[in-house]
Amino acid sequence: MKMRLAVDGGKPVRTRSFPTHMNTSGRTYGQEEKELLCQVVDSGCLNRFGGSMVLQFERDFAALHGMRYGIAVTSGTAALHLAVGALDLEPGDEVITSTVSDPGSIIGVLLCNAIPIFADSDPLTGNLLPESVEAQISPRTRAIMPVHLSGRPAPMDEIMSIAQRHGLIVIEDCAQAHLAEYKGKLVGTIGHMGAYSFQQSKQLSVGDGGIVITNDAALAQRARLYADKAWPRDQQPRDHLFLTPNYRMTDLQGAVGIAQVKKLPGIVQRRRESAAWLAALVKDIPGVIQAQVPAWEQSAWWTFPVWPDPDVLDVTAPRFQAALAAEGIPCQVGFMVRTLLDYTFIKERRTYGRSQCPWVCPMARPGIAYREDEYPGARKAVTEPVVIHWNEGIAADDVRDIAAALEKLATAFRR
Ligand SMILES: Cc1ncc(COP(=O)(O)O)c(C=O)c1O
Repeated sequence: MKMRLAVDGGKPVRTRSFPTHMNTSGRTYGQEEKELLCQVVDSGCLNRFGGSMVLQFERDFAALHGMRYGIAVTSGTAALHLAVGALDLEPGDEVITSTVSDPGSIIGVLLCNAIPIFADSDPLTGNLLPESVEAQISPRTRAIMPVHLSGRPAPMDEIMSIAQRHGLIVIEDCAQAHLAEYKGKLVGTIGHMGAYSFQQSKQLSVGDGGIVITNDAALAQRARLYADKAWPRDQQPRDHLFLTPNYRMTDLQGAVGIAQVKKLPGIVQRRRESAAWLAALVKDIPGVIQAQVPAWEQSAWWTFPVWPDPDVLDVTAPRFQAALAAEGIPCQVGFMVRTLLDYTFIKERRTYGRSQCPWVCPMARPGIAYREDEYPGARKAVTEPVVIHWNEGIAADDVRDIAAALEKLATAFRR
């Protein structure tokens, strides 16, 4: 039976607020975090070099991934900056990445005076298309930065094989995909470095923070220096070796991180369970397409995407999203709301004054342009899926409400 949609003045399926990462309903902070935070405050030193929390957190996070080194910093953007900074690139060197990401993926590249080069994305995952990556390689390419978007791993076998053939470094942007698995391997452990964000919406959050993990001793050493004004603290007299920022995480964030890292497997497990419940219900709703996740892939379920099937439903993605939101289900159109090419700072090359550096740097390859027609998959990835916000607080009754709202929309919009 067709019911009047909430967007048209009907009664919404859900009137109670949904669990959200912005408060305790969708987060897991508790006594463990409080006790460690009190230890830091009671010690009188909140800086990482006076205490031991950040050091312990770095060890715990790296160990959870079976990796040797972890360098914790103030944000995911900072983590990606030091991963790129660790490569000691020349101005005009190029890093291939995705346009379907947060600006944090490319800010560090540009701050190194290197140039982000974009490959196209799979419209159904937003992840890099290997053939497009290969097509973008130039004599100046130094690294590939796959973004494991929305919890799902990028095609790492293909990306690693391209990198090996061309002698390139691979930096995995795992900001949205904590503990996601690709063919039995955790993301962040497959390339040369893995970078994470611990901002409020991420699976593991310390409010704001980030980390780089690696098994490469030389990259780890330079990344560590890169986060600390290139200050080798064990050397006398005091020296600063090259130009870098200060991205040091405080022991307050480290304390929360230690407690959170223990909870992370459980957090991701809960996201997987609730996603599996919704997947089972959506299967029976004609006109609502869901992601096809192959058996060798374990998503970390940062979000849950669906697509209105144009053969069955007479509705656009924006209309479907507006109607779903009106039913009380938090959601957005697109894996990211825009591509990186749509942001002013990229469109207008607003970087260092009016110079348009590094694109016009004399040391850069001339004529680098980002042509919209090169990224049809990315455009679809930001305009076609209706992406339901996800978190570990989502319970069985929440999942039932989401499914009921989808069912109501599918009935209302049926052709
Ligand atoms: C894919 C991706 N990369 C990088 C970042 C940057 O992380 P942060 O916001 O912690 O700087 C984010 C976070 O928003 C992200 O989602």
